[in-house]
This record gives sequence, structure tokens and C-alpha cells, in this order.
Amino acid sequence: MSVQASSAQPLARLRIEHISKNFEAVRALHDVSFELQPGEIHALIGENGAGKSTLVGIITGLVSADTGTLSLDGTAVSFRNPLEARAAGLAAVYQDPNLFPHLSVAENIFTGQYPRKGLAVDSQTMRRDARALLTKLGFDLDVDRLVASLTVAEAQFVEIARALSSDLRLLILDEPTSALTPGEAQKLYSVVARLKEEGTTVVWISHRMEEIRMLADTVTVLRDGGHVKTLPSSELDDDAMIRLMVGRSVALEAVARVDALGESRLSVRGLSVPGLFDDISFDVHEGEIVGVAGLVGSGRSEIAQAIFGLSPNLLGSIAIDGAAVTPKNPRHMSERGVVYLPEDRDAEGVISTMTITDNIGLPSIKRLNTFGFMKPKKERELAANQRTSLSIKGEVTDLVSSLSGGNRQKVAIGRWLATNPKVLLLDEPTHGIDVGTKAQVHDIMRDLARKHRLAILMISSDMQEVLAVSDRVLVISRGRLAADFDIADATQERILAAASGAGLKEGAE
Ligand SMILES: Nc1ncnc2c1ncn2[C@@H]1O[C@H](COP(=O)(O)OP(=O)(O)OP(=O)(O)O)[C@@H](O)[C@H]1O
Ligand SMILES: [Mg+2]
Repeated sequence: MSVQASSAQPLARLRIEHISKNFEAVRALHDVSFELQPGEIHALIGENGAGKSTLVGIITGLVSADTGTLSLDGTAVSFRNPLEARAAGLAAVYQDPNLFPHLSVAENIFTGQYPRKGLAVDSQTMRRDARALLTKLGFDLDVDRLVASLTVAEAQFVEIARALSSDLRLLILDEPTSALTPGEAQKLYSVVARLKEEGTTVVWISHRMEEIRMLADTVTVLRDGGHVKTLPSSELDDDAMIRLMVGRSVALEAVARVDALGESRLSVRGLSVPGLFDDISFDVHEGEIVGVAGLVGSGRSEIAQAIFGLSPNLLGSIAIDGAAVTPKNPRHMSERGVVYLPEDRDAEGVISTMTITDNIGLPSIKRLNTFGFMKPKKERELAANQRTSLSIKGEVTDLVSSLSGGNRQKVAIGRWLATNPKVLLLDEPTHGIDVGTKAQVHDIMRDLARKHRLAILMISSDMQEVLAVSDRVLVISRGRLAADFDIADATQERILAAASGAGLKEGAE
């Protein structure tokens, strides 16, 4: 196609025209057209399953569109794979980590474009340049480490560094901060602001309203695969954005508890795993939701994992409904009514090669069996119930691998709720979930606690969530219990102060 540079209108950085994409019966995108301008931060928002990640895939050549065209700075483009896109100055950080676990950090950053010395890879230059990129991001990481050994947040920074390793015209970030601590996210905000100053266009996909308000110049809303609107962010407040995404208003509000607490369901005394955390004691009562705040890496997830029987070197004592247990393994603990929803849903939460029905039925199989027979009908019912109550977008017969990121998370939650547990250990339960569904998940948690008398321990880095859902807030700092607040005394400032290790143990009796 020829370049049609009209003098009146500046060229769009990327012009997206009439893009449609179906996955068999699922209409992921339908006739989507809008433009990204040079040097702007453009937020792309929409509910789980709205089509955001699919559009990212189409732009970078990871997914092929059924119809539609793209033009980059006035020239029609069509990439067969992300490497071609990157050669043209387009890079993306995908929602699902896309790294090679058995290669080093430096090798991952330069995949497909290793610096060479003659025929050989110039590993010295590669390592030096990788270090420089990470420093530019303000992130200190040994470039020789294998990616398999990294935490989620570290891997995320490697992905970002990789995207930065070329001259960029367009950078797309698909939920880049969902696994980052506030401090790490802050670093990324400044990187993005700097790129914008250099004239790079940034597409920012996020479910966090405050981020969009702070960063975006322009906002595009997708709903059910269709383009709803593209507007300057100054013309939108949170409520307007939510209404465009969801089609109605939603508030994430704190609901005061009315009923009294029951007996202790989960009691933890002097719990330690050497090197991970030390001397942790708390109770979660019948009907209570206890939030666990703290920085990523403070030991919060390890505490939940230890209670669930995933740590061999556990010291201290645990009681469920007053009966002492020594957690042996996850099966042992789930038989006692304890379930654990891990943070990394892809590794441990769901099995993506199975259907929604099979995933939701899996932990409940025992209950479904009579004389060793599976009851497929019962299993389908379970799955259908969870699908409805969590509004999972997809048929119960769909493979989990075909679902959007947020919908996979909902399957992971539904899978455990179907087992009628006593104690729920939730690690970042709404990570990647859109605002509308987040409020639903919170309602479900309250319902489980209040009506079904469950004890819920919720690890969350989302401060608004901690304050909205918890009855009590524990703060973990460097493997120790730094504070134990009644919700009435918990404020953002106090939690952050305790999490960063400022001051003495607060609030605990
Ligand atoms: N490979 C695939 N096969 C089948 N269906 C797919 C595939 N990829 C995406 N879909 C479907 O396309 C729709 C859009 O998914 P997409 O991942 O683009 O949503 P999203 O807006 O990124 O959502 P989230 O906020 O949850 O990440 C969903 O209904 C999803 O189930
Ligand atoms: Mg997505």
C-alpha cells in the first residue's frame, strides 16, 4: 500500500482498522478501529474476556486477524511473528510470561537478537547490555541467573527489559503491574513516562483505575470484542470508565460486619520455617476474613503454603477447629477442609489443558464418587454453578487454555469453592480480575465467611482490597508479624509503615 501522507492530519503511530477475530464460536474481536498517536500513553481497558490481549497478539503478529488492517506511521504492516514486529519497532510484554526458563536472564533479554562477535554470540557484550537495561529500569538482578529461578516480579522485569532492547516506536504492556509491588510499579511508571518523552507510544492494559488516571493520555474501551470509545482521559472519571466497560456502575466498598465472630477455625502458634519466616501467631475465626498485607517477598505466600502442607521444615503448631494438625502435604490438609489458592494460577492454580468442568470438578472428585464411579452430571452441575456465580466467560466444556487471563483466575477460585472448605487461604485472589468481577468475588468471600462460617486468610497487595474486605489485617515484614490491626484501626499509612518495617510491632496484643 502506498503512503498517504496528507499534510493536514499528522500520521497516527498505529492505525487499527476493522480488525475482527473469531476463535471458533467465540467472537473475540469485532470490527475494531481506532488510532494510537505518537508519544502518547494509551490505556486499553475492558472486562475480562473483552478482547484486549487478543488485540495485542494481532498487533505483534502472535495471532492472525480474520479481517482488518494495521498501518504503522502511515505504512501498511502485517507481521508474521513478534520478531518481525520487533524489527519494525513494536514490542509487547504479554500477560502470560513468555520467557525461556532454562536460559539466563541475559539470554532471555536478547532472544533472537544476540550480539555477535564474528559467528559466535558475544556473551560479554550481551551480559553488559542486559545489565545496563535492567539498571535503566532501576532493577537489580544478576543477569546470569536462570529464568526458572526467578520470582514472578523478577520475570516481569526481564520481559520489560527485553521489550526495551530495541528502538521502540510502540510498546504494549499487558497488565504489567499485576505482579509488582507498589515500589516496583513506581519504577515502571517512570520508565513509561520517559519513553513517552522520547516519542514512543505506550499501550497500557490494566484493571487498576488509579494507574489509568495517573498515566493515560487517551483511553480506549473494549466490551465483548467491540470498540466502545476512544477518549482523552481528561474526559473520563473512574465511574465513567467503569460504566463504559461494564455497562453499569460498580463500587468496591467496605461492608461493615454485623454478626459476632465464632470460634477459632485456624489457629497458628509460633510458626516458623527457618530462612523464610519466624514466630508467626494468629487466629482466623469462624466467619472472619483476615487480610495479610506486606511487601512481595516478605514471606506471606510462604506462610500460606506452609499451612497447606507445602513446607517440610515447619516448626510451631497449627489447629483446625481446635484439633492440632501437623501439615504433611496438600492432600492431607484439603481433607481437613483447608484449601489454598496460589498466586501463580498457571503453575499451580488450574490445569490449562483441561476443560472448565474438569478443573472445577477435580478437587471435589472424592465427593462426587459413589462406589468408585464418577458422576459426570454432578460435576457438570458444580461447574455450571461456579460459572454462573463467578460470571466465567466461556462454556463449561471449553479448555482453560482458551480463556482470557481473568477468566482463568475465576476458574481457579471456582475450583476450590466447589469443595465446601472450612478454611480458605487465598493468595492475591483478584489479581488480573476486572473491577466488576472483583466486587463479585468480594461479595462471594463475605458470603462464604458470614453465611457459611468459613475462615478466610487473604494475602493481597491491593490496598483497597485489603481495606474493603478484611475484618482484621496482619502485616508481615521480612518474615515477621509486624502488626495485627482491627479493621477499625487499619489505614493505608499504618499498614505501609508496618510493611516497610518502620517502627515496632503495632496493634498486637
Ligand atoms: N486461543 C484461544 N482460543 C479460544 N478462545 C480464545 C483464545 N484466546 C482468547 N480467546 C477468547 O477470546 C475472548 C477474548 O480474550 P482476551 O484474552 O483477548 O481477553 P482480555 O480482554 O485480555 O481479558 P483479561 O482481562 O481477562 O485478560 C475470550 O472470550 C477468550 O476466551
Ligand atoms: Mg488479557
